[in-house]
Amino acid sequence: MNRGRFIALEGIDGSGTTTQTQLLISWLQSRQIKAVGTSEPSGGPVGTLIRGALTGRVRLPDSAGGAPLTQQTIALLFAADRLDHYQAEIDPALKKGLWVVSDRYLDSSLAYQGALIEGDWVAEINRYAPRPDLTIYLDIDPETALERIAASRSGTELFERKDTLTQVRAQYQKLYRTSTAKVVLLDGSASLDSITQEIQKSIEYAFNRD
Ligand code: TYD
Repeated sequence: MNRGRFIALEGIDGSGTTTQTQLLISWLQSRQIKAVGTSEPSGGPVGTLIRGALTGRVRLPDSAGGAPLTQQTIALLFAADRLDHYQAEIDPALKKGLWVVSDRYLDSSLAYQGALIEGDWVAEINRYAPRPDLTIYLDIDPETALERIAASRSGTELFERKDTLTQVRAQYQKLYRTSTAKVVLLDGSASLDSITQEIQKSIEYAFNRD
């Protein structure tokens, strides 16, 4: 059984990774490729804790003043969730020959946590996370991204602020300027259909020849 392919979609909040992950899975399936979608934070125990921390529900106990978790603790949780996610979901699917499309993966930590705390340490705690075969990055300016988020739902999460997303975007751009990994950079402010088509072309280009 040939091992499947592992593709990650990346971008700041509101860049469209969730929508494009779903569309990519449907497209792969329409081409008789067995594909599954997954995401981070994962649905596992650490991922559930992270979702609580991002919305302010998970905090230190009252005896410790009910303080929010520090950015360092959150970075460790994301790194731990990633190893769980890979072991529980990604690797078993790849071993069965399925293609896996993940809405966020390693580069989210390098960009988000790397923007807020020491980047070398963030890379170090993620050392054991296996790399995807292909990463697709949807680049968009934070203002447009935040307008999209506001139009789609109410309530905001920890990182959904213009100043933070500006730093995170800069971190993504820096990462991909120097990256040796296979990365496709796309304009996330283009129309939904054109981004979908660009992603499909990138997949054909990246995988048809090997
Ligand atoms: P996401 O599920 O994409 O957002 P939403 O709840 O809107 O669907 O991700 C939640 C947030 O977590 C998002 O702001 C990005 C952030 N994040 C990190 O900071 N580091 C990481 O390693 C990951 C995977 C996500």
